[in-house]
Amino acid sequence: MTTSRQTRVSSTFLSPVDLDSSGDEPIYRRIADWYRKSIVNGLLRPGQKVPSTRALAQELKVSRISVLNAYEQLCAEGYFETSVGAGTRVARSIPDETLTPTAETRRTSLPRRPEHRSSGHIAPRTHLRRGHAWIWLKSTRALRVGPPAVREFPNAVWTRLMNKHLRKPPREIMIYGDPLGYMPFREAIAEYLRTSRAVRCEASQILVTTGAQAALQLCAHVLFHPSDSVWMEEPGYFGAHFVLKAAGVRIIPVPVDQEGLDVARGMRMSPTARAAFITPSHQFPLGITMSATRRMQLLNWAARNEAWIVEDDYDSEFRFEGRPLVSLQGLDVNDRVIYVGTLSKSMFPALRIGYIVMPDSLQAAFYDARVTLGGATPTLYQAVMADFIREGHFARHIRRMRMLYDHRRRALIDAIREYLPDKFEVVGAAAGLQLAGFLPPDIDDVAVSTRAAAMDISVMPLSPFYLGRHPRSGLVLGYGCADEQEIRDAVRKLKTCL
Ligand SMILES: Cc1ncc(COP(=O)(O)O)c(C=O)c1O
Repeated sequence: MTTSRQTRVSSTFLSPVDLDSSGDEPIYRRIADWYRKSIVNGLLRPGQKVPSTRALAQELKVSRISVLNAYEQLCAEGYFETSVGAGTRVARSIPDETLTPTAETRRTSLPRRPEHRSSGHIAPRTHLRRGHAWIWLKSTRALRVGPPAVREFPNAVWTRLMNKHLRKPPREIMIYGDPLGYMPFREAIAEYLRTSRAVRCEASQILVTTGAQAALQLCAHVLFHPSDSVWMEEPGYFGAHFVLKAAGVRIIPVPVDQEGLDVARGMRMSPTARAAFITPSHQFPLGITMSATRRMQLLNWAARNEAWIVEDDYDSEFRFEGRPLVSLQGLDVNDRVIYVGTLSKSMFPALRIGYIVMPDSLQAAFYDARVTLGGATPTLYQAVMADFIREGHFARHIRRMRMLYDHRRRALIDAIREYLPDKFEVVGAAAGLQLAGFLPPDIDDVAVSTRAAAMDISVMPLSPFYLGRHPRSGLVLGYGCADEQEIRDAVRKLKTCL
């Protein structure tokens, strides 16, 4: 049974009630027929309010009596119900079986990828890899990789700043804006990146996107021909795999070791690749930090070959061991690095704000791509975010979250030591909101995450992140969105899945 909906459908929004055809049928019957069909087809859902008789009569330009008669008939047949004060609505008691499949609301709290159905021609570019890698997405629970601590977000401050902009919105936040983004926000983010990430940039180089994934997609659009080869970390971020597959390029999976991407191997595998997509500050998924030597090797290779480096710096605000790291872009003197960042981890993912720092030589190309593809971030959010940064709330929030995540990270490491001492070899745990570890080779990580999902624990298997023939078995465990007790309990349960 579907639940009630409180909003009344405006009579002007109803798809046209066809009163002109079907000859001699009295009008009230045609109205009633239209409603019956709409309910059975799922256009109107159980519990949904319908227009008042007066409004519908006015809209259809018929007498109110006709509409009243139709409504009475539908009430008598059980399609409608009325109650004092709530007006008339589609009966909540209509069983789902009487409705056609389109009428069933497919409600689930988690996003689901629809099945492919083969009808008509579609370009195969964006078919995602199917299958078991997605098991871990089925739960929002303790060890889920991705979400930050949204329960800790300073909602009161955010609401105050939103209200400030909503109460009297200036014209510039209501109309089409600069395709590259709202200048006060670009200025604030450029200043933040210069001071906290040593990114060499001016506000004019910032392009605001709807997150890092959209930024990676824009980079691929601007930089690649389908015949190009591109280095990817092996194992690497699935979002980048998707983008590169969609661009039709040849992906060169360059192994990652304790120092990060093995640049010498990359040069042997494909010396003239067009670009490298990497996560040097906190390698996804292994969590390794790229060494200074490798950084210099990579920058030198890119300069010599006029190759691009796309630096995905998705969660480097949260570093718990060692000194804060300079971005790769900050070390680059040849303008080969395109820096990508996001507020999904440091703020919250639904904000959908990310950014690209464009080298000067690519600004026109990125501008044109943005105009062609659309997809700008709403100016209102950029304006609110600019204030959030300028008034010091962003820095404060990051400081608080860094401490919180550090406690959670330690709780996770302790729980691993206690419950999985000889099963799980932690690889990278110095930064970010997740850590990775290897399992003994005879343990099937996909089977483990499938069993864990059945117990409502969300752990990511490591092997699907390899493109090559030698995937390692392991798990990626998140500690962003659960408290220390929840983390301990989840690891204790995870033990039984191994
Ligand atoms: C390595 C990496 N890059 C990019 C992203 C995408 O972030 P966004 O939410 O900004 O699209 C993520 C998200 O978790 C990520 O882990």
